[in-house]
Amino acid sequence: MSGHNVWTHKGTFLLAAVGSAVGLGNLWRFPYLTGENGGGAFILIYALTIFAVGIPILIAETMLGRTSRQSPIMGMRHLTKTHKTSRAWESIGWLGAASAFLILSFYSVIAGWALHYTWLMLTGSLVGADAATISAGFDALLASPGLMTLYHTLFIAFSALIVGMGIHKGIESGLRIMMPALFVILIVVLIYGVINGDVRAAASFLFTFNIADLSLEGWLQAMGQSFFTLSLGMGAIMAYGAYISSEASLTRTAIAVAFVDTAVAMVAGLAIFSLVFGAGLETGQGPGLMFVTLPLAFADMPFGALVGGVFFILVLGAAISSSISLIEPVAAFLVERFDMTRPQAVTIMVVAAWAMGLLTVVSFNIWAEGTLFHALFGRSAFEFIELLTNIFMPLGGLMIALFAGWALTQNEVMKELGTNITWFKTWRFLVRFVGPAAVSFVFLRTIPQVEGYVVPTLGALLIVGVFALSQRLRKSA
Ligand code: PHE
Repeated sequence: MSGHNVWTHKGTFLLAAVGSAVGLGNLWRFPYLTGENGGGAFILIYALTIFAVGIPILIAETMLGRTSRQSPIMGMRHLTKTHKTSRAWESIGWLGAASAFLILSFYSVIAGWALHYTWLMLTGSLVGADAATISAGFDALLASPGLMTLYHTLFIAFSALIVGMGIHKGIESGLRIMMPALFVILIVVLIYGVINGDVRAAASFLFTFNIADLSLEGWLQAMGQSFFTLSLGMGAIMAYGAYISSEASLTRTAIAVAFVDTAVAMVAGLAIFSLVFGAGLETGQGPGLMFVTLPLAFADMPFGALVGGVFFILVLGAAISSSISLIEPVAAFLVERFDMTRPQAVTIMVVAAWAMGLLTVVSFNIWAEGTLFHALFGRSAFEFIELLTNIFMPLGGLMIALFAGWALTQNEVMKELGTNITWFKTWRFLVRFVGPAAVSFVFLRTIPQVEGYVVPTLGALLIVGVFALSQRLRKSA
């Protein structure tokens, strides 16, 4: 059994977890969601959720990894046995594996777009281009299944290579080179944005809070984003947590991860919006913010092609360090359960996710409308997959919080947390009640039909259900 691998250094888990957390979620999704939802108020809710719900669940998920020292599926199997709970809790592992697989499938396609833009920028193809040309260029990329498949393949193959080399030679060494480089690039882009853009407008857009601006949808998107950005609820953190040294402090590490992840999102937001405002462009472009608005801003600025190219390299690096954390939990499971070699396990996971990714590729062109997915779910295959992960991630987080909060004994948790009783009680209150309540709320709202007063009602019902379930968990513990 290879379950007892441990990171080389006490601090490596931090590096790995930050690598997983910082990704397209920070550089692409966070800025465009903030742009669409009017700025500061969105950020306030996002930050509150990170600190009140995200950090406690991050601790819980790492704890489950460290106590079991196995991949999420095998680890949960072990924990349900040793804690005599229902085997149904093993579904935390399965759900995680399913989410990792689904996220990887579309994550790789979108990261592939960044590959395309790195190329366009560095070759200077967009220098001086006007808005119509740049947006037509993006449309042309989306219209080409061949091109998108090519980039998707390159990206996922490279990620697979790193994971295939193992947690020390592959993941650790890769992260040790990539992460510092990413921080340097981010700072360079920020400085460039401050010099060439309008940082004052960006700061006031990002940090002026007016809660009234925020729609219910915006609230929920902010909460969903805080799960996505911390890589919570799907086993990535649990898988990395299985390798964390017994001495590392879970609380301190989780706070550091959340802090760095949030800081990166803020700095990226500040840099991107400085450029966008400086060029007099719109903030509410949606997913095209990074691929249309930003290239347009770079097109007219001094050294824009070079800095733009470097920026997209940053996006790529951040995406790779996240995608490897999507491969790891499933690969580790295949190795443990079926005695496969690591390269075999990685190949199986990646080839399957690659094939699944083709559904996302065609969702932007030949299957953009009129498919079975549209008939059944009123959306494209890509949008359906994204919706599924939006449900699976909070659900996984909810179950992780419940399991860690109710099934683990006080002694175990005290030992894992290694802190005083006050923090133990606070943490346990957060994972037993606050997290589950908040997550149920987000979760319910992802069901489009549930609107208006139905939400609070169902939410309250769910909380009661969760409470009842938890009591059973505790009895069986
Ligand atoms: N946190 C990553 C990001 O922000 C996405 C991710 C989600 C990675 C879940 C791993 C697991 O891009």
